[in-house]
Amino acid sequence: MRTTARSALYTVMERAARKAGRGLARDFGEVENLQVSVKSPSDFVSTADLGAEKTIRAELERARPTFSFLMEEGGKIVGKDPDSVWIVDPLDGTTNFLHSIPHFAISMALVQKGDLIAGMIYNPVADEMYWAEKGRGAFLNDRRLRVSGRRDMGEALIGTGIPFRGRGDHPHYLKLLEATMGHVAGIRRAGAAALDLAYVAAGRLDGFFEIGLNKWDIAAGILLIKEAGGFVGDLDGDSDPMETGNIVAGNARLYEPLGKLLRAAGGSGK
Ligand code: IPD
Ligand code: CA
Ligand code: CA
Repeated sequence: MRTTARSALYTVMERAARKAGRGLARDFGEVENLQVSVKSPSDFVSTADLGAEKTIRAELERARPTFSFLMEEGGKIVGKDPDSVWIVDPLDGTTNFLHSIPHFAISMALVQKGDLIAGMIYNPVADEMYWAEKGRGAFLNDRRLRVSGRRDMGEALIGTGIPFRGRGDHPHYLKLLEATMGHVAGIRRAGAAALDLAYVAAGRLDGFFEIGLNKWDIAAGILLIKEAGGFVGDLDGDSDPMETGNIVAGNARLYEPLGKLLRAAGGSGK
């Protein structure tokens, strides 16, 4: 029996996430075979990605026909209600998916009049459903989430995203890594920013930083962390990470010192 009451909004998002998640999990099972039998597994993965986005859009639109969309693949779709926007990444962790690493997720959020109202991050392989609604807390399946209680940077496990071919300022990123790695218990690059943020909300990671993310990578995760008692901000200080994509997050104790270390090393580098 469920211990937490679910809203109508949750039900709508869950249906979309589970349906698209079933498709992704099935396609993921094919990837290993495809790597030997098909010339371009990346084409297969982009088909899976587009398929998931189509499913999510259809489900959300059926339940909330007037709402607008901002989707990684489809871009902006303005509906009758431009103030209610679904922000969707149908497959976060594409490179993991392509390499048969079962660490990827669907991420979706609802923004109304500029406010983050709801967020959901679903890892279909682990069947982990992370979700949050503004003012109602954050959850992993039925369990209420709290960020970690670690106070000591020396014990902290920090997630990050390393820029790769064609993306980001590599020498600058190395400065951020150099500034942080000597102070912490470990740094992880797991390959799915949405899951990294969900892990901060769940207290698995104590903090996270990355430069150059998009709204669909971070919208749901930001709400999850805030509702789990953590902090999220822009790498340089005052701006909104939803606008800049340069994000730092952490538990209540480590958010400030982590931000300080990163800013002293040049922040976003912009
Ligand atoms: C990527 C992942 C990755 C992050 C990249 C993102 P995608 O999203 O979240 O962890 O480092 O910057 O673009 O392409 O797999 O949806
Ligand atoms: Ca992504
Ligand atoms: Ca994606």
